[in-house]
Amino acid sequence: MKDLAGAVICALVGLPSADRAELARAFAAGTAMTSMVRLGRPRLTPSQVARCRSVLADLTAPAVRAYADGDPSTVPGRMRELGLTESEALGAVAAFVLTGTETLVSYVPRLIALAIDTGWLARLSLDRTRLDDVVNEGLRFTVPSPVMLRSVARDAFVGGKRVKAGERVVIATISCAKTLGPFDPDRPHSPALRQLWFGAGAHFCLGMPLAYAEIRTVLETLLGLDGLSIVERRVARRVLIPAYERLVVRCG
Ligand code: HEM
Repeated sequence: MKDLAGAVICALVGLPSADRAELARAFAAGTAMTSMVRLGRPRLTPSQVARCRSVLADLTAPAVRAYADGDPSTVPGRMRELGLTESEALGAVAAFVLTGTETLVSYVPRLIALAIDTGWLARLSLDRTRLDDVVNEGLRFTVPSPVMLRSVARDAFVGGKRVKAGERVVIATISCAKTLGPFDPDRPHSPALRQLWFGAGAHFCLGMPLAYAEIRTVLETLLGLDGLSIVERRVARRVLIPAYERLVVRCG
């Protein structure tokens, strides 16, 4: 999943395609940054900021070339065409690298484990029309991006609660989604939840269609294989987004 999500992002943002070791190194650098985020602490320390800046400068350096080349099939090239500056383009590249990999690296193995554990993978082999129900219910049940963080710009009331300027608000999407109960793709999708796991409003996930394309690609590939079983699983520790550190699936 790291290879797939990493390669897709590289192609999208105009970074040269990297080998497995480089993708793994870039992924580790990204999770080292996101793991610095603490729910109760609204800011990074100056040394953390310096570390993040240097890691991001390293990760996005090749995008400077993509911006200079101006190829509109890449994000930096398109942004240049639209009149945005190089630093704005690099900001977008950094956002894509961070948002477009860890979420999928977390979600897809969790979805596969859920589908195997609950017998849904076998059911899908017989009836692929239910694939989207399984994918959407898996997103609802796992909520790969479990919370959204906001800072309060000025004193206000939100949903009847008083919030003060400078405070941090943690929107626990996972709590909202989990109220529906256990993983059950047969349950009709609740319109009230919309697709809260992709956010809401102005910051709704920009990569949702890409995420679906990658998730479906992996699931459809697995459906073409016989007798899948999980032979090893290990949960990742000290990460912002819950994930398996290792999930080994055997075929046949
Ligand atoms: C299962 C996979 C994914 C999930 C669950 C997910 C979830 C989310 C959520 C909840 C937000 C809103 C965060 C907030 O408001 O604080 C968001 C924003 C965003 N996502 Fe995703 N995402 C996924 C995959 C991707 C992919 C593959 C990309 C590809 C580039 C991507 C790009 C973005 C970007 C750029 C934003 C920021 C949008 C903005 O602030 O205007 N996401 N995502």
